[in-house]
Amino acid sequence: MDLLLFGPPGAGKGTQAKFLVKELGIPQLSTGDMMRAERASGSDLGKKFNEYMSQGLLVPDELVLELMEKVLSSEEAAKGAIFDGFPRTAPQAEALDAILAKLGRKIDRVVAIEVDLDVIIDRVTGRRVCKSCGQTYHLRYDPPPSDGVCTACGGEIYQRADDTEETVRKRDSEYQAKTAAVLDHYDAKGVVAHINGVGELDEITERIREAIATA
Ligand code: AP5
Repeated sequence: MDLLLFGPPGAGKGTQAKFLVKELGIPQLSTGDMMRAERASGSDLGKKFNEYMSQGLLVPDELVLELMEKVLSSEEAAKGAIFDGFPRTAPQAEALDAILAKLGRKIDRVVAIEVDLDVIIDRVTGRRVCKSCGQTYHLRYDPPPSDGVCTACGGEIYQRADDTEETVRKRDSEYQAKTAAVLDHYDAKGVVAHINGVGELDEITERIREAIATA
């Protein structure tokens, strides 16, 4: 199955993708995580990503597509994938369709997770993440251990540099201006299911399961 988790920054895409990876037996492909890994490696490509990410702006399509094409041709994603944070523009959606078509695949379901901006700001500014495995915590809703060591892998827990209120507002503007319309692309194919993204984590997972079951 090829599943796309869609929604504004902080909607819960990454959190839910991690729950679904084991259940569906397919990997989570997060362009944000891939870009942060590239940035942490200190490579020239990572430095280019950082110019945009640090300001809350979208990274140009050609750089994103270069990254995604490599991953999609790998063995890991041969049986499908959970796309998280990609595609984010109309050209990215068209390119993804073309890559998947070459592999005899298509996006089977888009789950659009709906959350208002005030909730997003609260979630993102309280988010903490493991540097090693990407496990996500929230200071109030899913508190990290007080020693700052990830319960999943023992890695170091940190706050993302783009998780300030100012940058989240910028990321949300980018989402409204360039990404929200990507849903029209998939609506035309009849694969979009909208779910309410506010509630307990397991309630949201159940809503996503139901949306997948009706695909
Ligand atoms: P990316 O890393 O993709 O960030 P994002 O899309 O902005 O999404 P987030 O990771 O912020 O949120 P999420 O929906 O995964 O929420 P989460 O589950 O963590 O992108 C970062 C940057 O990279 C972009 O700004 C851009 O520069 C660049 N980029 C990436 N992909 C790109 C692309 N395709 N094209 C161009 N540029 C690209 O949850 C958030 C918090 O809420 C957590 O603390 C979590 O614990 C908490 N939470 C989750 N669900 C609940 C709940 N139900 N109740 C209470 N708390 C909850």
